[in-house]
Amino acid sequence: MNIVILNGSPRPHGNTAAMVAAYQEGAVQAGHQVTVFDVCRMRIAGCLACEHCHAKDPRTCVQKDDMQQVYPVLDEADMIVLASPVYYHGLSGQLKCAIDRIYAPGYPRRLRKAALLLSSGSPNVYGGALYTYQHSFLEWLHLEDMGVFVAAGDENKAPELLERLRAAGAALADPDERNVANLIIRAGDVEVRAPLNQTQAARDLMNRLPLTVSGTDSGVDYCCELKEGAFDEAEKQQGWIDGDVSVADGWFALLHSGQDQSRGYRVMVVAHLDDEANAQIRALPPQVTIELSLEEPYVGGVAPAGAGALA
Ligand SMILES: Cc1cc2nc3c(=O)[nH]c(=O)nc-3n(C[C@H](O)[C@H](O)[C@H](O)COP(=O)(O)O)c2cc1C
Repeated sequence: MNIVILNGSPRPHGNTAAMVAAYQEGAVQAGHQVTVFDVCRMRIAGCLACEHCHAKDPRTCVQKDDMQQVYPVLDEADMIVLASPVYYHGLSGQLKCAIDRIYAPGYPRRLRKAALLLSSGSPNVYGGALYTYQHSFLEWLHLEDMGVFVAAGDENKAPELLERLRAAGAALADPDERNVANLIIRAGDVEVRAPLNQTQAARDLMNRLPLTVSGTDSGVDYCCELKEGAFDEAEKQQGWIDGDVSVADGWFALLHSGQDQSRGYRVMVVAHLDDEANAQIRALPPQVTIELSLEEPYVGGVAPAGAGALA
């Protein structure tokens, strides 16, 4: 995923910079793209509260300073990391200026996760920075907490701290991969897998597995009665692609063929079988009993190893 780190320390070889470097190293090793902005060495003014970005030109800041370099990267970022020395129990002023300027894009388009790195002289001085992180980033921007990491006094630059940060960076997983669960579809000797999507219907199905359904081949699908089940009507789509798996309105269906004639139907797709798996389904006998189960382990929602808790 794309990660943007805003480093709010003015000291290029300081304690915060060491935390940032270790976290970045781990994340890059794990295959993520990381962009670090040293905001103290950039020309980033405070927000003018002119409301140009809301009233006149949506998502566009009227101030053409170095924040213009940050905006496009932020809009492509899946995760933001705030890194700062603690100044008077809060984030550094330079970082706060950059944060306030996020007012222009509002909700950066892809942003889903956040982490906080703090360096201080004394322990237990994090209340101010934590308040901003908790309320403005986790709650206001609806981001998932990937951990808060702090270092006070002698802990700064300690090998154990830097190793912990490296491990946390390396443990970050792509938002989508993290939550993918595979649906196992078994009929006779055939067993295939289809990654479930993020729809409410898919989530609901996961809660109801394992299940056994049976049905007949209509020529385009195996249609099986499956009572109850929750789904969001708005998540239905027009037509299907051969290999789609659908659940809604009392039916479970393996839509193995007929995509060209499917435009007239609204379907609730929860998963998709690749061509090879779909060919196996297509070759099944006219009458089938299908066992549905979830591939283990399902790791959705588990925090990465080494992530600090927000206390
Ligand atoms: C202006 C200023 C204010 C500071 N305020 C605090 C503070 O409130 N509490 C604290 O524990 N340390 C405070 N410190 C110390 C720094 O947070 C600490 O030295 C930190 O490790 C510096 O990180 P750096 O090396 O990235 O600059 C302050 C330092 C400065 C320069």
